[in-house]
Amino acid sequence: MVDLDPWGSASVDDYSKLFDEFGITEFDASEVPEPMDLMRRGIIFGERDYSLVLDAMENDRPYAALSGFMPSGPLHVGHMMVFRELIWHQRHGADTYFVIADLEAHSARDMSWKECERYARDYVASLLALGFDADEGTVYRQSQNPRLRQLAFELSEQTNHNEMNAIYGFDGETNLGHLNSTLTQAADILYPQLDEPKPTVIPVGADQDPHLRLTRGLARRMRMFGVTEALASFELDEEEREKVAEALELFGGEATAREVAGHIREGHGHHEGLLEKLDSAGDEELEPRVRVLSRDAPEDAFEDVVDELESRFEVERYGEHADVYDADYREVDEVARDVEVGHGGYGFYPPSSIYHRFQTGLTGGKMSSSVEDSHVALTDAPEDGYSKVKSAATGGRETAEEQRELGGKADECPVYELYAYSLARDDEHAKKVYDECVGGERLCGGCKEEAAELMEDFLEDHHEEREKHVDEAEDLMTLNRI
Ligand code: TRP
Ligand code: SF4
Repeated sequence: MVDLDPWGSASVDDYSKLFDEFGITEFDASEVPEPMDLMRRGIIFGERDYSLVLDAMENDRPYAALSGFMPSGPLHVGHMMVFRELIWHQRHGADTYFVIADLEAHSARDMSWKECERYARDYVASLLALGFDADEGTVYRQSQNPRLRQLAFELSEQTNHNEMNAIYGFDGETNLGHLNSTLTQAADILYPQLDEPKPTVIPVGADQDPHLRLTRGLARRMRMFGVTEALASFELDEEEREKVAEALELFGGEATAREVAGHIREGHGHHEGLLEKLDSAGDEELEPRVRVLSRDAPEDAFEDVVDELESRFEVERYGEHADVYDADYREVDEVARDVEVGHGGYGFYPPSSIYHRFQTGLTGGKMSSSVEDSHVALTDAPEDGYSKVKSAATGGRETAEEQRELGGKADECPVYELYAYSLARDDEHAKKVYDECVGGERLCGGCKEEAAELMEDFLEDHHEEREKHVDEAEDLMTLNRI
């Protein structure tokens, strides 16, 4: 069992486990037009429903990107990934949000409001320095956003202690402020959709996935309609559906329940539950369809969806649901969403997410704001950045001779990570460092010197850019104060 704890310090040792355990999908950079470096280099390794975002991006439809941090310590180069991901999406058309999670910092990290504000100003200066356009995008503090807090309240009506305990490992001792901050984060994640539903990507580290699981469930429960793919008038679980779909294919896409049951009986395996359902359906024609279920929808809203669908497709109507034939899932989903919004509902899309690997600390272990030598902070003096890199741990061998013979272990080297995550000028540069290292042509002393100089240059530039944006950062803080 991989434990994902948003407030813990454990590192994820095997990212592939997250795929099976939590249903995160492997990120496929080849699907992305002009993918960013973190995508190309496999640092962004996983996603949920990112195709919704890609579709919007490619068809010039509205979509959003949102992420945030607790203002609870100095920002380091590992955090910079999130900034860069936000900025990349902003440049690719996203309505982009940066959240200062001061409610969470106050409850989970015991930060005073004053400290929160000081760090927040600092974060925003770096965000702007890296290229975030605050005229186009939005920066807000959780504590100063009344619409957000109202949404958090509404979301809280859709969950209970059992679910929170199962997702976060909370128990009877859990402080309610902390519990509240998770609902605030769910509200953050859905906030870009308040005025108009739109696909939204949340770029985060894998430790934040529990928040996405919670929010995806809440978003679904807030919908008036559920839209699912089905094969029969009766409900099938996923495994049963696969079995029936397989059989249907052999029959050319259409067959009666009886015919499918006969086919399944000839095969092996235990399918008693499924066979029972098929037997009692007898002559019903099975075929793929899209099902629209009314959840909490007002009666007239359900009527409107059915009317609208009937004007375009073949529809069979049952009490609380309607089955739509020869229709594309997305099209039906859009019809249901439009009607829902027309009737005053939110029509939320499930939030999408992309996950990046954690950067290893310079001293090994996790890069952490609370361990000074494990990171280079964006506010560190350039010469301190230089010396921290110079004294970093490496994946090098005991002696130069051994290194020439066996090559270094770039895959386990925090210095190589610095190149791959941020310092390399381009892919070619990153690849050159890697190849020379594992090929034994590169020794750690020179390699660290090069990285240290790049870090020093980066910090010098970054501080210069920050200077240009302090006033704007200050204004954004004031704007956000009530
Ligand atoms: N929980 C995040 C952290 O630990 C901060 C956060 C708050 C956030 N709201 C968010 C991240 C919404 C992504 C999306 O720093
Ligand atoms: Fe790391 Fe560079 Fe040494 Fe290779 S040569 S192990 S990349 S410091």
